[in-house]
Amino acid sequence: MNILVLHGPNLNLLGLREPQVYGSESLDHINDKLLELAKALGAELRIAQSNSEGELINLLHEAIGWAEGIVINPGAYTHYSIALRDALAALRLPTAEVHLSNIHAREEFRRHSVIAPVVMGQIAGFGAQSYLLGLRAVVNALERSRQ
Ligand code: DQA
Repeated sequence: MNILVLHGPNLNLLGLREPQVYGSESLDHINDKLLELAKALGAELRIAQSNSEGELINLLHEAIGWAEGIVINPGAYTHYSIALRDALAALRLPTAEVHLSNIHAREEFRRHSVIAPVVMGQIAGFGAQSYLLGLRAVVNALERSRQ
């Protein structure tokens, strides 16, 4: 099972960035946990972070033919990137949209996701656990599709 994990803008600053909202764990630490869980679940991960919308889209395109599922935290692009949404819709892979914070309990502009309608589901509000839950959900969907 090949799964692409994408982190969007400003997530490279995790640990430093608004720790009261996003926690004190670094992105490297979250990635280590993801790799450990992937190993236990029998999945292979490619993990990337970009601050650029176009780069995230390129990473999705480059994963065509390799990735069977996606875990993505689109960061602020969640709320307005039609281009990222279109890329995910084009790939049509089991995808979990994840957020560290509960976007529905925050400012009005964060409550809407343009990504959510084209993915399997959204997990928000569990800190770094959101990523791990997202990975489990995608692995589970792939296992079910193989039965
Ligand atoms: C975020 C929520 C977004 O609104 C914000 O712009 C982020 C992080 C989260 O993980 O909680 O960059 O996606």
